[in-house]
Amino acid sequence: DIRRPRAPLDRIPPDILCAADYETVARAFIDPATLAYIAGGSGDERSLAANRQAFARRGVLPRLLRDVCGGHTRTALLGRPRAHPLLLAPVACQGLVHAHGEVHSARGAEATDTVMVASTLASCPLEEVAAVGGPRWFQLYMQPSREVTADLVRRAERVGFEAIVLTVDAPVQSPGRAARRAGFTLPESAGTANLAGYPAPEGRVLAPTQSRILDGMMREAPTAADLAWLMDVTGLPVLVKGVLRADDARALQRAGVAGLIVSNHGGRALDGVPASLDVLAAVRAAVGPGYPVLLDSGIRAGSDVFTALALGADAVLVGRLQMYALAVAGALGVAHMIRLLREELELCMALAGCATLADITPDLLCEAAPC
Ligand code: FNR
Repeated sequence: DIRRPRAPLDRIPPDILCAADYETVARAFIDPATLAYIAGGSGDERSLAANRQAFARRGVLPRLLRDVCGGHTRTALLGRPRAHPLLLAPVACQGLVHAHGEVHSARGAEATDTVMVASTLASCPLEEVAAVGGPRWFQLYMQPSREVTADLVRRAERVGFEAIVLTVDAPVQSPGRAARRAGFTLPESAGTANLAGYPAPEGRVLAPTQSRILDGMMREAPTAADLAWLMDVTGLPVLVKGVLRADDARALQRAGVAGLIVSNHGGRALDGVPASLDVLAAVRAAVGPGYPVLLDSGIRAGSDVFTALALGADAVLVGRLQMYALAVAGALGVAHMIRLLREELELCMALAGCATLADITPDLLCEAAPC
């Protein structure tokens, strides 16, 4: 079969010159149905498209004649020093593209001092991710039973995860239309290892008048009370992922959440929501300076990282590029992708007159040059 995807390489292909090249090259390494699942968005994919357009609309207006020698990308996240402001976003089921998915992503992260945010729905158990040894946060999807949720959190605490990221924007999930049309199904090998061994949630019979979505799936969706419960059961800092509104941001800050991730789930949750980049400045203004605000959705280049930082993000998370790099060259690919993004950011900083991340201010952005 000529469409059979290539196995991951143990070297970097010579045609990868920038981080975004992983998106193109990965096509030969991922079967078409799986690629449709990873690349796709929800609904009409308006939010998916908006994410990229939001970056494309913005350009950089550099400051000249600044001395940037000795500059660096160092920062601190949740009180810990980090070499750069890039994290690996939680991406489920990495066994879809690599036999040791999350373990290889964790190795790539460890090699580049990158925080890996491991998904609840990972193909490798969180204990195996932790054994790699790099900096790590655990992304939590609330489970139908509080005992199971609390047990997941305890397991993450036990093996040294440094924070919990509660994702709240996708309680109802289904593969996008492109993936369904392509016949995508989740193979058992890429299943959710963290949830193995827990009793299956009880099935619920709905009355004919009840909604499959509002009465069925949303019964398990987290509420503000669940968030309060979570912050009570864990000693780890809790961040909330999926924030788009300034009033939600302020309420979460007041509730004692350790930080926010401005995200539209890479255009995979509610279609029609704005690009996360377009709401970032309002969220930052709502919570004030000095409070951790991260961003994801649409990051493909170092200049995108620069733009997000200029609009108020402390750091960014990388979703799909991680899967593409993993598919092409496993841990090596992930480490290389992060290194490329970091160098692209450094280049952008150097040419814009920024020696440190603190120098990346909103006045450096302008409307993009027309293509
Ligand atoms: C995701 N994302 C996600 N988010 C989360 O909180 N838990 C998860 O398990 C997953 N799983 C997942 C699978 C796949 C295939 C994708 C593409 C995305 C969302 C992810 O964390 C992040 O928000 C987006 O991927 C960011 O957008 P970009 O970088 O992909 O454009």
